[in-house]
Amino acid sequence: MFAFPIEALSKHFSPQLQRLFEWFVARVRSSPRFYRMVNKKFFSDLTRHEIMLADSSRVDAYAAALPEIVKPTDTVIDLGTGTGILAFLAARNTTGKVHALEHGDVIRVAEKVAAENGITNVVFHQRHSSNLQLDERADVLVHEQMGNYLFDEQMVTNLADLRNRLLRAGGKIVPGRFEFSISPVQLKDDNLVPLIWNQEVHGIRYAGLADALEHRPEHRRMLLRPGAFEAALCDDSPCYEFDQHAIEPTDLAHEITFNCTATRDGRVDGLAVWWRSYLTEDVVITTSPFELAEHSNWWIPLLRLDSASLPVHNGDQVSVKWRGDLEALNTWSWSVSVCPTDPAGAPPVSAGAEDAVMGEQANRYG
Ligand SMILES: C[S@@+](CC[C@H](N)C(=O)[O-])C[C@H]1O[C@@H](n2cnc3c(N)ncnc32)[C@H](O)[C@@H]1O
Repeated sequence: MFAFPIEALSKHFSPQLQRLFEWFVARVRSSPRFYRMVNKKFFSDLTRHEIMLADSSRVDAYAAALPEIVKPTDTVIDLGTGTGILAFLAARNTTGKVHALEHGDVIRVAEKVAAENGITNVVFHQRHSSNLQLDERADVLVHEQMGNYLFDEQMVTNLADLRNRLLRAGGKIVPGRFEFSISPVQLKDDNLVPLIWNQEVHGIRYAGLADALEHRPEHRRMLLRPGAFEAALCDDSPCYEFDQHAIEPTDLAHEITFNCTATRDGRVDGLAVWWRSYLTEDVVITTSPFELAEHSNWWIPLLRLDSASLPVHNGDQVSVKWRGDLEALNTWSWSVSVCPTDPAGAPPVSAGAEDAVMGEQANRYG
């Protein structure tokens, strides 16, 4: 059901040992080696690639950006070529080699498509990016390594490694510049899903599940379609920005804290995670729920709150705190508080509704 089979083992342990065991399983699941396995399996399903190919706003963005960036004799690396689409779009603009890199067997599909379309300047390498060696340095590194949570496909680590080893000085990464948002949002009423232990359905209470589930990080997140979101409650400025041309994995933030002013009355139902990636200064892919097409292959993560929701009024101060390893979802913790504006014009009172969510519990184990 909701548990990976290995967790079933822990049911024979004492509650303390059970938590320790689950903490251990969560750590293993957050490790890069485990992630590689999961990623390879996830993308071995061809329907995943069909959905990505059919996401026209995604593919159109690359088709618009690559002719601006790839020069006639450039060497290009496509990290994670999948069915080959980005390598093929790049190959139209250069007589140089395009190195299409993919760790999964889907690379066979890409090879077949290249042959059927008479594309001869793409060289295929089936391996993990950390194992790619080339005799030349590339001029351009193209990729689509953006996960729903932006960092969850280990984009920063994989790209920094290839950039440092195989991109020439001054070479371009597409997309290179990123903006990341963790934004207080209100959902449409029909899309509100309280945590199970807060639910009572026709008199049946689920409160007893809290002990077993509340410290499980995966239970604190959910993925939603853009249509589930009613409104952003603050303006949509990003809370974190970086450029893949310069960032090292060790530079990634471990804490993001910001205050914003509510721009409307409503309720905070959670924190939506979205991002903008700049392929060029004008060609942008975003997963903002207020801009994303319903047919997009990306989903929008909601970081859920312990309480059902926090009331908020126009002008209130909303504080958001996030902590963790951006590339390891199970380490994420967050909290939101709302500090109401005093209607008499006095400074905001500091005792706002505080919603300490999974963070505190998770960090005891993490
Ligand atoms: C989001 S898909 C994008 C596929 C293709 N570029 C496209 O735009 O349709 C990411 C692909 O990268 C591959 N991949 C992820 N990390 C990789 C790595 N470090 N080395 C090689 N391939 C990787 C996955 O197997 C998957 O096929």
